[in-house]
Amino acid sequence: MNILLCGFMGSGKTTIGKEIATVSDLNFIDTDEMIVNKVNMPITQIFDEYGEQYFRDIEHEVFCDIAKLNNKVISSGGGALMQDRNVKVINDNTYIVFLDIPFNEICERIGNNDSRPLFRDIESAHKLFNERHGQYKKISDIIIEQALTPRETALEILRTCREKGKK
Ligand code: S3P
Repeated sequence: MNILLCGFMGSGKTTIGKEIATVSDLNFIDTDEMIVNKVNMPITQIFDEYGEQYFRDIEHEVFCDIAKLNNKVISSGGGALMQDRNVKVINDNTYIVFLDIPFNEICERIGNNDSRPLFRDIESAHKLFNERHGQYKKISDIIIEQALTPRETALEILRTCREKGKK
């Protein structure tokens, strides 16, 4: 079984993913980190020097790589599952979990952090949030809305996935 966490920037995919790895036998991986390692450059620099399309192509390569893995909890970049080609390569033993956090809470969490090229101002980020929300809902197997602690959220996700019973 794999668990793939999706949701907007700042929805807690990395925090919850690491927590799931702590309380289970799944190993944590992060698609943004894999991209940074492949290109050997921080994300903002990839966007600045090569543009978003190049970033998306590398992101797709990473998705093809992770499709072969098992026993992982994967934190995906906020835009990754907006590309159908990435949704298509996700293997059958993977649960897609959407961390559905309200936009105002996301803004509080992200603050003035400028490491995200697609979160430069609140207005355009809010527009992107609204454009993406329906797609996250459509492609996910499980939606987590409650404001629980990271530990409680991790346990809730694991319990729900195990109940659904994929390999
Ligand atoms: C992006 C989200 C980022 C990162 C890149 C693009 C997006 O990941 O992949 O900056 O399109 O929403 P996080 O969601 O982990 O911040």
